Amino acid sequence: MNIIFHEKTKTFHLYNDHISYIMTVLKNGQLGQLYFGKYVHDREDFSHLLELAPRPMSSCIFEGDKTFSMEHIKQEFPVYGTGDYRSPVVEILQNNGSRISDFQYKSYHVQGGKPELPGLPATYVEKEDEAKTLIIELLDEVTGVRVQLLYTIFKEGGILTKSIRYINEGKESVYLSRAMSLCLDLPDCDYHWLQLSGAWSKERHIKERKLEMGIQSVGSIRGNSSHEHNPFIVLKRPSATEHQGEVIGFSLVYSGNFLMQAEVDAHDNTRILAGIHPDTFEWKLGVQEAFQTPEAVMVYSDHGMNAMSQTFHRLYRHRLARGYWRDRVRPILINNWEATYFDFTEDKLVAIAQKAKECGVELFVLDDGWFGARSNDFVGLGDWTANRERLKNGITGLAEKIEQLGMKFGLWFEPEMVNMDSDLYRKHPDWILETPDRPKSHGRNQYVLDFSRNEVVECIYEMMAKILREAKVSYIKWDMNRSITQCYSAVLPADRQGEVFHRYILGMYSLYEKLTSEFPEVLFESCASGGGRFDPGMLYYAPQAWTSDDTDAVERLKIQYGTSLCYPLSSMGAHVSVVPNHQLYRMTPLHTRANVACFGTFGYELDLNQLSEEEIAEVKEQIAFMKEYRELLQFGTFYRLKSPFEGNETVWMVVSEDQKTAIVGWYRILNVVNGCFTRVALKGLNPDYCYRNSLAGTTHFGDELMHIGMVTSDATAGEVQKDEIPCTDYESRIYILKAVE
Ligand code: DGJ
Repeated sequence: MNIIFHEKTKTFHLYNDHISYIMTVLKNGQLGQLYFGKYVHDREDFSHLLELAPRPMSSCIFEGDKTFSMEHIKQEFPVYGTGDYRSPVVEILQNNGSRISDFQYKSYHVQGGKPELPGLPATYVEKEDEAKTLIIELLDEVTGVRVQLLYTIFKEGGILTKSIRYINEGKESVYLSRAMSLCLDLPDCDYHWLQLSGAWSKERHIKERKLEMGIQSVGSIRGNSSHEHNPFIVLKRPSATEHQGEVIGFSLVYSGNFLMQAEVDAHDNTRILAGIHPDTFEWKLGVQEAFQTPEAVMVYSDHGMNAMSQTFHRLYRHRLARGYWRDRVRPILINNWEATYFDFTEDKLVAIAQKAKECGVELFVLDDGWFGARSNDFVGLGDWTANRERLKNGITGLAEKIEQLGMKFGLWFEPEMVNMDSDLYRKHPDWILETPDRPKSHGRNQYVLDFSRNEVVECIYEMMAKILREAKVSYIKWDMNRSITQCYSAVLPADRQGEVFHRYILGMYSLYEKLTSEFPEVLFESCASGGGRFDPGMLYYAPQAWTSDDTDAVERLKIQYGTSLCYPLSSMGAHVSVVPNHQLYRMTPLHTRANVACFGTFGYELDLNQLSEEEIAEVKEQIAFMKEYRELLQFGTFYRLKSPFEGNETVWMVVSEDQKTAIVGWYRILNVVNGCFTRVALKGLNPDYCYRNSLAGTTHFGDELMHIGMVTSDATAGEVQKDEIPCTDYESRIYILKAVE
């Protein structure tokens, strides 16, 4: 890993064993982009990559020079209005109404490691030699706005992170009406664009299409990163697959409104932009004030999608997630939501916990409904004190009982919300986000607290911290069940209302920071009506997230598969629930529900007292299996082998670091009659190790399993015989492969 500056050609080259990133100072003093991709040897001069050519209709800054047109130059920090008609990275509104700026290169410095981003989540290093950071300073003389471009290259993996800091050293305030985190100009458009999109209960489905001339984008203006689109995209060469070919993943470490876009211009150049969504953003930058953008992460792989995902997984597992739980296997939990909804008492909860304990569950989580007057979703949010009618001994008493059973106790909060029918709202009706003289919209009968205000965050913090100080709470599920509307803060002046969305996110992050610092051993799981805020920003505070409200095993295949493009298995909350399933009334076998959920942070979302004796015996086996293999399932190297988006079967696997153990999950949606004999080519094994297959009772060398494949069909591929084990729809199997001497 190195960062080189060639003084003579004013060229920067950041590289490690995998990637090179090359920039140069242009003739007009601005910063140009030359290359991002697989590592290339360093040399002093890469200026031939500038491709300057006279083109009719272009606007040029130097008299007599028809070649230097910003429209055709690949840039690092493009602005609008001086010849480049593509979307810019920044737009600055000045007091005279102008939006033109000219950021000139001033200086640079390189430092070991990686600086923190104040108030924002970001990837980090533990030792200085894990990464190097380049900080380039640019200045717009007219406004006096100084810019710091931050680039970190990690030693391991094809990873480069970027963010931008603005400091107003001028004499007047200015307004940032656009402040993206990343711009990358690529010299062609021969890519497919992949995004993770969907809606509530069908989050992060993979959508792929060919990149076309014009702008394609995903984003959110809902105040959260959203169920609809994830702050993650991939550019993939058309011929690239899961296991070979060139791909670049872009991920934004942010939980609020975002935009990720690709713009293909008339000459087939592609500009990628990622950052805070400019439509809902304007930031007043007062004199001597600074603004820091969120961090964007780029991962390059020339070994296909799977290698890109593994790089993201490693980075986000070890150098984004933090704290006590980062490297620890996650407790097997039971959550009462689908078991009881709002209808519970302390006795009922203890009965659920008792049965769970008997089966081997380690953590009991009390979901929504334990506080204030909460008996349905019209009432109580914001009043974070126990409802004594339901919980006669309060949270402290219930937590004690659960602890006495030998389990840990976890609790649900929805800190950012309030019902009108609550003491908090009655006391502070002006604490919600609402626009004066305009109707306000509710979502699930609730309103969003103005987390851009310190006193609001402080008040919620005090209520939550009081409970955590008094009761033995080991886990928090932090929910967020609506998006933001009529966004306006009662305390900010008119010319700062464009800041509210971002200030809200900063307030939410600050509450997480305070709580995780004061209670470092509490495991946080983020949630937003399932997976409405499943993003890298949240992972910095909460190492796991509730992947989706949809607990149906078949639906979960797509959701978890899509999520795995960027996020590690250790971040995906995955539970076994009852059948008929509560979201779509499908009946799936108990073993399939567990076989899907075990590739995540495993738990149950049902009342085990309602299960038959045979089912309880099965549950006990599932839990024993999970305890034995969860380290591998949550922290092993994950391979996607067959996609649920492409056919009837899904196959994925994890491999241990020493390659001695692997677990393959095989899932078939509908049974087939007179079907094909099937094999699946495994990945990541040691070709020279001989593996024992727990299910088939056979042994095979790693090379055979990877090149010939593991046989997944059985005798029922022909015609199911009466005396054979019935082979049903929604079938699944777990194969454990262990290297033998
Ligand atoms: C939405 C979550 O995703 C559910 O798991 C549950 O916690 C409910 N909210 C409770 O209101």
